[in-house]
Amino acid sequence: LGEKYIPGFGNECASEDPRCPGALLCISHNITQNKAYLSLFSPSWLYRILPSVCHKPFESIDQGHVTHNWDEVDPDPNQLRWKPFEIPKASQKKVDFVSGLHTLCGAGDIRSNNGLAIHIFLCNTSMGNRCFYNSDGDFLIVPQKGKLLIYTEFGKMLVQPNEICVIQRGMRFSIDVFEETRGYILEVYGVHFELPDLGPIGANGLANPRDFLIPVAWYEDRQVPGGYTVINKYQGKLFAAKQNVSPFNVVAWHGNYTPYKYNLENFMVINSVAFDHADPSIFTVLTAKSVRPGVAVADFVIFPPRWGVADKTFRPPYYHRNCMSEFMGLIKGHYEAKQGEFLPGGGSLHSSMTPHGPDADCFEKASKAKLAPERIADGTMAFMFESSLSMAVTKWGLKSSSCLDENYYKCWEPLKSHFTPDSRKPAGPN
Ligand SMILES: [Fe+2]
Repeated sequence: LGEKYIPGFGNECASEDPRCPGALLCISHNITQNKAYLSLFSPSWLYRILPSVCHKPFESIDQGHVTHNWDEVDPDPNQLRWKPFEIPKASQKKVDFVSGLHTLCGAGDIRSNNGLAIHIFLCNTSMGNRCFYNSDGDFLIVPQKGKLLIYTEFGKMLVQPNEICVIQRGMRFSIDVFEETRGYILEVYGVHFELPDLGPIGANGLANPRDFLIPVAWYEDRQVPGGYTVINKYQGKLFAAKQNVSPFNVVAWHGNYTPYKYNLENFMVINSVAFDHADPSIFTVLTAKSVRPGVAVADFVIFPPRWGVADKTFRPPYYHRNCMSEFMGLIKGHYEAKQGEFLPGGGSLHSSMTPHGPDADCFEKASKAKLAPERIADGTMAFMFESSLSMAVTKWGLKSSSCLDENYYKCWEPLKSHFTPDSRKPAGPN
């Protein structure tokens, strides 16, 4: 597919399409008279064949299932779990990435640049002569089924399941798909994703900067007489404008505001090697900080293949209630705490102070298991979108998706008391 990348996270980069050698060299400063049209995404500069402003007016279009109305249905504090979200069949209805966006839950306010939304994308068709850009925030895209060939103004990225990409506010992109395709999106308003502070970990570990890949400049000088459609999400609503050329007409760019992708296989996992659990934040890939120190609008956290070696410890995730809202998804495999009904392409949401933890079956097995070193999560990749905001679920999430698992609470019902007042003679496992 010919896509190439520059490694690194947040670096100042310069890239020019090889068909225009020296394009950046001939530009002696950012704004040169008569050399090129440019557009600025502070702090990136893009040099293009025609400026983005050459388009007909934006008009409101069908919203589909995109929403930022967090009051569509009454709040629900229950543990929620979804069966795999159903992908429409191409033979029945052609759906592309934008028309296949479904908002599942979210919180906060777009106009004040504070909040997040979680969307599910379900599509079967390439976008063709349509592109999308988001005026409201950044998209962290997690493909679960089917690869995405993403054309951006900065170049092309191929993103496969077990990779993620971030496309930041304002960047235009168009997605080709190759089969019935599904994935998850974490949208954050007004902030950008960063690598977490490593603190005592020091210089190396978790997601290493060099494993993030930025596309190189690529352009097409393509006239589209029938009209190219630019779709914009602006203040939560969708708008479309027609123009006569492809928007991917950037011959060179420089700056550090770029899209990027990352392969989750490259995550350097740190874990307990003595006893107990590290806080799950040790698995944070990227974080979008809030204005309150130490509190994130959203963290992207993964549970990758690793060794479990902790002694005298219940090794699966423990039962807890906490202040965060935790949305979990599964890219592939079997999540250790819920072997049965938490399936790839589905999800779960445990809201602020709502109790959750492993199902009864997992508890029984792990309570009795011999604590030898063991591989955990081989062939599996579960992830979490975690937020300090209290998220509301949309009407699609609770009702019209028809994927909500009404029996989720039953996975904890078989849990039995193992209590005995004499702690020297435990009656339960171990
Ligand atoms: Fe949790």
